[in-house]
Amino acid sequence: MNNIHPVFDRLLQREDREQRLQQRGKVIWLTGLSGSGKSTIAQALERKLYNEGFFAQVLDGDNVRTGLNNNLGFSIEDRKENIRRIAELSKLYLNSGLITINSFISPTVEIRAFAKEIIGAADFIEIYVDASLEVCEARDVKGLYAKARKGEIKNFTGIDSPYEAPPQPALRIDTGALSIEASVTEIYQYILSIIKYV
Ligand code: ADX
Repeated sequence: MNNIHPVFDRLLQREDREQRLQQRGKVIWLTGLSGSGKSTIAQALERKLYNEGFFAQVLDGDNVRTGLNNNLGFSIEDRKENIRRIAELSKLYLNSGLITINSFISPTVEIRAFAKEIIGAADFIEIYVDASLEVCEARDVKGLYAKARKGEIKNFTGIDSPYEAPPQPALRIDTGALSIEASVTEIYQYILSIIKYV
């Protein structure tokens, strides 16, 4: 052990940061079709957590894909790489004691299992933002379903690329029936005991 100076006992640990922030770091993983309401819920949940004194950060498909992941498209391989990088990023945030709210289609069981493996099962909270394809297509907030139907966008989730619903999510939010406010309240109540520092 000559010339080796271990610093582990001097490095700040996740526990130290969680204690400072008075919260438990977790990854709230929202999965669902494009237009299901993931990002709207993520932003409202972030605001709610902030107002309640928590320190949370939204990671969102549309944002992360303009920067960190701007070299990736929508093939299954690219989506997997998209999710891998996001999971690794979330893991770094976790070590800082942060709560991340991840809003990604993350379309397959395999891709989400991959994210869970990277993040660790104990810190991964899978929430299914459930709205049927019919509902999402009728909303078509970004006009992307219309383009996909015309063949102007290839590999569009739900049209010519698969979406597999999670068989056993921690929580399922039916945004076809619930308001944004009600959805956020339900998620908040579910996660409160998990993120609270006791
Ligand atoms: S994921 O499948 O890799 O998880 P991600 O959540 O990052 O997808 O990005 C989804 C967003 O990208 C959609 O909300 C939509 O705005 C946009 N998008 C562009 N092309 C596609 C496509 N072919 N399939 C799905 N979403 C697309």
